[in-house]
Amino acid sequence: RIAYVNGSYVLESEARISVFDRGFLFGDSIYEVSAVIGGHLIDNDLHLDRLERSLRELDIPMPLPRNEIVVMQRTLIARNELDEGVVYLQVTRGSEDRNFDYSDTLKPSFVAFTQKKTLQDTAAHRDGIKVGLVDDTRWVRRDIKTTMLLSQVQAKRQVKASGCGEAWMVQDGFITEGASSTAFIITQAGKIVTRPNSRVTLPGCTRLAVLQSAASQNLQVEERLFTPDEAYLACEAFLTSASSFVTPVVEIAGHRIGEGRPGPITRRIQRIYLELAL
Ligand code: PDD
Repeated sequence: RIAYVNGSYVLESEARISVFDRGFLFGDSIYEVSAVIGGHLIDNDLHLDRLERSLRELDIPMPLPRNEIVVMQRTLIARNELDEGVVYLQVTRGSEDRNFDYSDTLKPSFVAFTQKKTLQDTAAHRDGIKVGLVDDTRWVRRDIKTTMLLSQVQAKRQVKASGCGEAWMVQDGFITEGASSTAFIITQAGKIVTRPNSRVTLPGCTRLAVLQSAASQNLQVEERLFTPDEAYLACEAFLTSASSFVTPVVEIAGHRIGEGRPGPITRRIQRIYLELAL
């Protein structure tokens, strides 16, 4: 397969980045993941909006004009014959002699690759997954999609031992989000609840698309904080991300949610999200 590295298409085995790259040395870097179904990018405009925003917040220049990024993503999809999977993009501040401060003229590094993955109709989508709860130990600007992901790596490891497919993180008594997904619960009254966007969470692209499709179906949505105790009493729960779409959650920290299987509202959201996205 082919990867993209700073303007060139190279074999993945020959894709190289400097050891002096600030993404490697400082985590001074941001990323995006867009899903691909049938060779088509899903919600890609939202992902590129967020890429631009993350770069702006960190004062890293756009490495390529936006339309050229899309051409590059499509080239990788075509050359790698990717039918279903993801395109990963990463922009770092660039490479220079190690120093906390950086040169104002530094040129960003830009790499991209594809991963073949089954995204639709997986066992997780059919049967739902268990999630565990962990303390949210991340830095304070979680609205920026940086590659500083050590807390999330540890969170997922920590809950894996008890058979959980995702960790939901808790701060000040409230659930923030999943280690790599947005958390939703559905109350006994049938309201879809998710935390409002702020610096405390990543503004999920799939979250936005799901909220828009829920509104189009007259489903009731409440953007507000919720606690683990409220989540245990929810009648349904699910999570969203580019690489998992809408995945039912059937157990939270050992508490069975609803009947312990994906509920009807989650099923409906799974269906309408994909209908609108494709
Ligand atoms: N993760 N919250 C966090 C912390 C995430 O890392 C992600 C995505 C999301 C969902 O965002 P979106 O719907 O835009 O994918 C929420 C990606 C998929 C990843 O790290 O691989």
